Amino acid sequence: MCGIVAYVGQREALPIIIKGLKRLEYRGYDSAGVALLNSDGLNVYKKKGKVSDLEEHLLDQKNLKSHIGIGHTRWATHGEPNDRNAHPHYSQSENLALIHNGIIENYASIKQDLLNKGYTFNSDTDSEVFIQFIEDIKKNANCTLEEAVRLALHKVVGAYAIVIMSKEDPNLLIAARKGSPLVIGVGENEHFLASDATPIIEYTNQVVYLDDFQIAIIRDNKLQLKNIENVENTPYIHKLEMELEAIEKGGFEHFMLKEIYEQPKSIADCLRGRLDAKSGRVVLGGLRDYMNKFEHADRIVILACGTSWHAGLVAEYLFEEFARVPVEVEYASEFRYRNPVIREGDFVIAISQSGETADTLAAIELAKSKGAIIFGVCNVVGSSIPRATHAGSYTHAGPEIGVASTKAFTAQISVLTMMALMLGHRRGTITESNYMMLLNELEQIPSKVEKALKSAKLIEEISAKFKDARNFLYLGRGYNFPVALEGALKLKEISYIHAEGYPAAEMKHGPIALIDEEMPVVFIATKDSSYEKVVSNIQEVKARKGKVIAVVTEGDHDVKNMVDHVIEIPDTHEAFVPLLSVVPLQLLSYYIAVMRGCNVDQPRNLAKSVTVE
Ligand code: AGP
Ligand code: GLU
Repeated sequence: MCGIVAYVGQREALPIIIKGLKRLEYRGYDSAGVALLNSDGLNVYKKKGKVSDLEEHLLDQKNLKSHIGIGHTRWATHGEPNDRNAHPHYSQSENLALIHNGIIENYASIKQDLLNKGYTFNSDTDSEVFIQFIEDIKKNANCTLEEAVRLALHKVVGAYAIVIMSKEDPNLLIAARKGSPLVIGVGENEHFLASDATPIIEYTNQVVYLDDFQIAIIRDNKLQLKNIENVENTPYIHKLEMELEAIEKGGFEHFMLKEIYEQPKSIADCLRGRLDAKSGRVVLGGLRDYMNKFEHADRIVILACGTSWHAGLVAEYLFEEFARVPVEVEYASEFRYRNPVIREGDFVIAISQSGETADTLAAIELAKSKGAIIFGVCNVVGSSIPRATHAGSYTHAGPEIGVASTKAFTAQISVLTMMALMLGHRRGTITESNYMMLLNELEQIPSKVEKALKSAKLIEEISAKFKDARNFLYLGRGYNFPVALEGALKLKEISYIHAEGYPAAEMKHGPIALIDEEMPVVFIATKDSSYEKVVSNIQEVKARKGKVIAVVTEGDHDVKNMVDHVIEIPDTHEAFVPLLSVVPLQLLSYYIAVMRGCNVDQPRNLAKSVTVE
């Protein structure tokens, strides 16, 4: 994973790089480093920890002025997080420096060859092997750096986004990618490179997305793109739509809290222009060319990881209920290594916030190789998954920076709900009046989420009571079962409390053994078709002295009288409940994590997009 930033132009590189790295810190925060070039040579500064640790380290350094530089914030794959393994890495002669995002799978054999030739290594990373290899090729083939990079790319196996600078050429940056993202910002007499557009947006809105197996050569202010066969490609300049405010905290203490509170707007943004309840229209532009295939699908296969997988589970209920199509929801990481059966009539949907998740990308490639049509539901515009799929719909939730996914989840469900309703309508599996009622109800969701957020104070008080718990159980049924999984994942991720999500009725098949007076159990017990059954499950927990927090439909007094704490959410159609019931669970995990002193936006060991296996 990791974030990479580079700059070449008229301005001072360091402040731009540091600011950019801070924006990319959500991608990894094991260490940070920069390389700068000036009259003192090509110098690398790096430090274990966060970008702020690097900044502190830089306070003691002299002559940091440079108009060119590269920077990296790491999520370690090879070699522990320490100063030595931090990027940038030098080549043997220290004439070259490289930053790398990804994994070089065949690094060990390349390293062995280089060791045999007498090369020495200063780190345990695969990335250092990469730059030493490039230098070795350059020396042996007596070629330009650009040519050496091209030849090396033919030999390395794995995933990479790299940027290289050279002591011999103060106006040159060379970058390349395969499987890891890289965006080039084209300014006036200056160029920026970054893992996503957030470090670039305040300087220019003109960007080029580098493709797999493309090499970018930025020399003397000109950008040239070539593929690894040395064929020149014309750069296609995209105009970024992103606003700077969207990537700043806007007065909130954490990005996660800001993103939870953004949900009324992000869901509305997602529905806008697509859903018109009055005329009964749902339009998803991305589906246009594949409507026939979608409408006549015999089966829908959903590929995703983590929170996006939970959104996929909600979609399973939606598609089966409204469109009567069988659905399989697959962990992309499992699907990619099975020999899955993909048939002619299958329609595959890949869900991903980042659009960069390596397992999801690999699962897409596998499904594609079996002849499937793949539809992407992604948040990050221009990321790899939207480009690897045949068609898709963006979720339009805006940049999600907190590592724990919140608004992306509800936006994914919003897109999938529109798809399911549209499909049901076209296939005639929902009546016209039901369809119109459902569209109307869906349109109300943003304002109902707004109302659900009003319980924040109460949830904060409840959190104070449970912040020291060691375990949590989350239970829900039907549409609320995936929400139970999501609630448990949120708590685990940011507060490091062990939590499990279960279908409420499964509790008696095992987890009930865990219940005692120490065990908080979160029930999602909204008024829906399984309400009575869930109420019985609550009784079972209370009979064993478990502490129950229940998310209920507003006005429900029965559950209130039974449990320790209730959190109310507005009433809606049961199919749309996840969009509301997840909100209190997001807040509960947030407040508990804050009270435990955890780093909410950048939880330990995690990174926002998992671009490695
Ligand atoms: C969510 O809170 C997690 N950090 C994680 O499970 C995430 O949903 C998963 O890695 C998938 O990411 P994607 O949606 O970007 O593909
Ligand atoms: N594999 C490299 C390392 O462990 C790069 C990891 C990253 O993408 O941050 O240093």
